[in-house]
Amino acid sequence: MRIDIITVLPELLKSPFEASILKRAIEKGLVEVHMHNLRDYTDLSYNQVDDYQFGGGAGMVLMIEPIDKCITYLKSERNYDEVIYMTPDGETLNQKIANSISLQGNIIILCGHYKGVDQRVRDAFITKEISVGDYVLSGGELAAAILCDAIIRLIPGVLNNETSALTDTFQDNLLAPPVYTRPSDYKGMKVPEVLLSGNFPKIEEWRENQAYKRTKTLRPDLLKNGGTGE
Ligand code: ADE
Repeated sequence: MRIDIITVLPELLKSPFEASILKRAIEKGLVEVHMHNLRDYTDLSYNQVDDYQFGGGAGMVLMIEPIDKCITYLKSERNYDEVIYMTPDGETLNQKIANSISLQGNIIILCGHYKGVDQRVRDAFITKEISVGDYVLSGGELAAAILCDAIIRLIPGVLNNETSALTDTFQDNLLAPPVYTRPSDYKGMKVPEVLLSGNFPKIEEWRENQAYKRTKTLRPDLLKNGGTGE
């Protein structure tokens, strides 16, 4: 998979790709991530990429020309499956969306800033608009990092144990069951007996029960959306 990220603040996006799982995925060649500074695609003085909005009102708007130039350049090099715009008024990211994007070959992610982008960018170039939640960030960069993390960890070979992404919370509309590690007794706080029993069918049954109970208590809305618990 190849991800091209268009941003006015590439420095804000660097560190998530320089540590841990995402770094290893890049080193293993399972994903390529390329940053493109929008300011490299403007001919205006002071590398201007934004301007006041027509009709008046507070806040600057990213202009269409540098975005057009950048996307057109990228598309001249290869085909893209999606051009995604990170925006608080997009579709709210969930596991199902992350699963489907992780199956794509090449994607472009455009990070918004200030008051957003000229609407004509959205009309002409964008195939998917994604929000990471009903709150407003200063720009799309941190949202893009969240999207990249959620999709890259799903690419086969990225996680050491390939089944571990499949047993994540949300993969079957259920929250994950509680997990424990050593010691089995910490200051009188004990690990549930069944997990120490070595009886794997029983352990599996306990985990399924716990996942269902947890979901029913903490996120009953997930069960209404087709949870497989019960
Ligand atoms: N840009 C600003 N806020 C955002 C959000 N909540 N999701 C995606 N992109 C954003």
